[in-house]
Formats: sequence, C-alpha cells, structure tokens
Amino acid sequence: MHDFKYKNGELYCENVRVSDIAKEVGTPAYIYSHKTFVEHIDKIQQAFKKVNPLICYSMKANSNLAIIKSVVSCGAGLDIVSGGELFRAKKVGCEPSKIVFAGVGKSAEEIEDAIRYGILFFNVESLPELELIDKISGKLGKKTCVSLRVNPDVDAQTHHHITTGKAESKFGIDLAAARAIFARHKDFTALRFSAIHVHIGSQILSSEPFVKAFTKVLAFIDEIEKKNGIKIEYLNLGGGLAAVYSDETPQTAAQYAKKILPLFRGRKFRLVFEPGRFVSANGGILVGKVHYIKQTSVKNFAIVDAAMNDLIRPALYEAHHEVYPLRRESKRKKWVYDVVGPVCESGDVLARDRYLQELVTGDYIAIMTAGAYGFVMASTYNSRPRPCEVLVKGSRYEVVRKRETLQTLIQGETIPDFV
Ligand code: LLP
Repeated sequence: MHDFKYKNGELYCENVRVSDIAKEVGTPAYIYSHKTFVEHIDKIQQAFKKVNPLICYSMKANSNLAIIKSVVSCGAGLDIVSGGELFRAKKVGCEPSKIVFAGVGKSAEEIEDAIRYGILFFNVESLPELELIDKISGKLGKKTCVSLRVNPDVDAQTHHHITTGKAESKFGIDLAAARAIFARHKDFTALRFSAIHVHIGSQILSSEPFVKAFTKVLAFIDEIEKKNGIKIEYLNLGGGLAAVYSDETPQTAAQYAKKILPLFRGRKFRLVFEPGRFVSANGGILVGKVHYIKQTSVKNFAIVDAAMNDLIRPALYEAHHEVYPLRRESKRKKWVYDVVGPVCESGDVLARDRYLQELVTGDYIAIMTAGAYGFVMASTYNSRPRPCEVLVKGSRYEVVRKRETLQTLIQGETIPDFV
C-alpha cells in the first residue's frame, strides 16, 4: 500500500530513514515516496489494461512539479482545474492531448489558454460556460471538444463536503438540462460534443454508487446518440477511488475494474479516469516535531510544530490520519493524546484521542496518508511559512519545494503612503 515502513524501530521512506531527512530539512515537512505514487498509477493501468483507458491524474490532489512529472512519465495525462494547473502541466511537458479541464468557474483567459494549448477536452459544467467556450473557440477559428459533465443525482455515500453528484451540488448539469443542450448541439458551431463526464465524489469505498451513476449515464448516452445524431468518443468516469487512511477496506483498483467494466462491454468510446487521492494519498506523510507535552485534568496534548495550516483535512472534514512515531520504542509506555498544532483555533487538532507511545519534547512524528490534499491545501494562516516538500526515490532524496521563509510571507505586500 505504501513505502513507509519500520526497520529496526525506525520509520523509513523507501531506503531512507525519515528522521535523517527531518534533521536535515527541518520540520514540518512533507515527505513523498516516488515508488508509492508510481505503483498506484500502475495499479490502475493494470486493472483497466484490457480497455486501454486514458488515465488523467487529478493534479489538484498533489501538484508538485516533481510529482506530476513522475506520474506523466508513467504515461498518464492530467486532469486540471485552473490556469495555474495548466501552467504546471506545461512545465512538465504533459502532452496536450492527455489533458482534460474541469471546474465550474473557468475564466475566459483560462479557456483561451487551454484551447491554444490544444487540450483534449473541457469538462463543461453549465450552459453559460458552454456558450463562452463556443465563442472563444469560434474567435480562434478552432473546433473545440467538449465533454458535458452530467450530474446523475446519485449519493456517493461519502463525507458531504466531497459529494459532488447529488442534485443540490454545484457540480455538473442535470440530465434534463443536458438533454436540452444536446437537442440544440448544432447551434454551437465551434464545438464538438464528443464526450460525457461524470464525477460523483471522493473517497468512495464501494462500487455501488459508481455502478448506479454509470448505469444512469449509459442510458443517457444511448438516448442522446439516438435522438441527436451524436457519437460519444470518450466517457470520462472521474475520480473518487478511495485510499486507505486507517482500518477501512476500500475496493482495490482491480475490484473496481471488475465491477464496472462489464457495464461498458461492446461500447466504442474510450474510457477516461481522473484518479487523485488513490494515486497520491498513501505516498506522502507530514513530519512534525513535538514542542511540548501539556497535561490538563482531562487531556494529554502533544503540541507539535505541524498544524492545521499545513494539513487542513482533520479540521475541515474531521478526517482521520494515523500518527506514527519516527522511532518506535517498545519500552515506552502508551498514553492517549490529542496531537495539536500551534495555531490559535480550537479546531487545530491533527489527531484526537490517540493511544500512542509516550511522547516527549523533541520527538518526531509522522502524520500518515498526507500525500493527497495535503500541501496543496496548506495556507500561511497565523503567518506560518508553508513547509518544504521532499521526494524520496530509493536511497536518494531531494527537496522538491523549499520551505517558505519569513520573506516569502510578506512577498507582494506593500504599505501605502496613506496609512
Ligand atoms: N475529477 C474531478 C472533477 C474532481 O473534482 C476530483 C476531486 C477528482 C477528479 C479527483 O477525485 P479523487 O480521485 O481524489 O477522489 N479536499 C478533499 C477532496 C476534494 C476532491 C475534489 N475533487 C479531501 O481532502 O478529502
């Protein structure tokens, strides 16, 4: 599942002792295992080999250049959601024909830039967006491929913040509205309606919601192909495959493939997948150092130098991340701790009520499964510079993003004369 393992009581990332990295680069620090990322891409590629899908890693999960370069080098494309992500995709030389562009609020500049670069298609989320893409594409004298993101109104049975396929969600176009758009597809003279997109949510543990959603979408495709003389060339099934954070047992890529592939038997279109978390979550950890132990009448707090600004998931979604000591010592007693950061918010709890080996000032800890939606969601709240990121491959490692400095914190700020 991942390449963070104990050897003689010390946590290693691949062949490197994590505490050696921490001592060198300081804490908090994100540390990534190259092998784990690549193996997860490979798991999906193997599971769907028969149908030769296009796998577009959803780079919002972790968009460090070194990570997306690693993934692109495995033959994957990228799912992007902003001009910033397109910029990063270009930087690592991702082929335009392997880029798909999602998101409910693409700006005219972002659309034009992506059309000029020649991306495979836009996942379109509303009628006004469709009209704008048509207009810009016409102005550039191009025929642009679009993929309507349909909202199948299916409950993904996951955290409500990461559910996207229900009727009340801001994402996608409901089937009735999509039907109406396809009925007048010829009005959009600079577009080709060559694909359909569906993404119902994230961290989905079982295949049922997927099967339900895809079955609805297939019936929809049959209907519009027949009625509107359209040929769907790509069906983009989004992301959503779950990672293992604790003791959950999500479907594997192979089990997912086994459940959904029969649905598409005999179909001519190419499948597209946009996995994010599945590829990157298990490949990263956030390493912190214990500042203080604070005991109150009801709690033991381990106050560490990593905080909610570095990893927001526990505060935002009550997400569970395991906490491992970098050095395991069996002779230490165990106590129940809340592992908290220095930020001035009572929500700044990285792990609550955890039975951990006794912690003392100076101990290093790892917050596990932090490779997805970790650094990318970090902020400088409380004027805390964001941590560095380190990539390990075998016995080698390199800082792939420097720790921010106090100077970076105030970059771009000015004090006007009138204050
Ligand atoms: N495709 C689209 C259109 C998406 O919106 C997303 C994620 C993905 C693919 C990738 O989904 P994944 O395979 O990672 O489940 N920050 C939250 C997760 C937000 C997901 C946003 N969209 C978290 O930390 O749990």
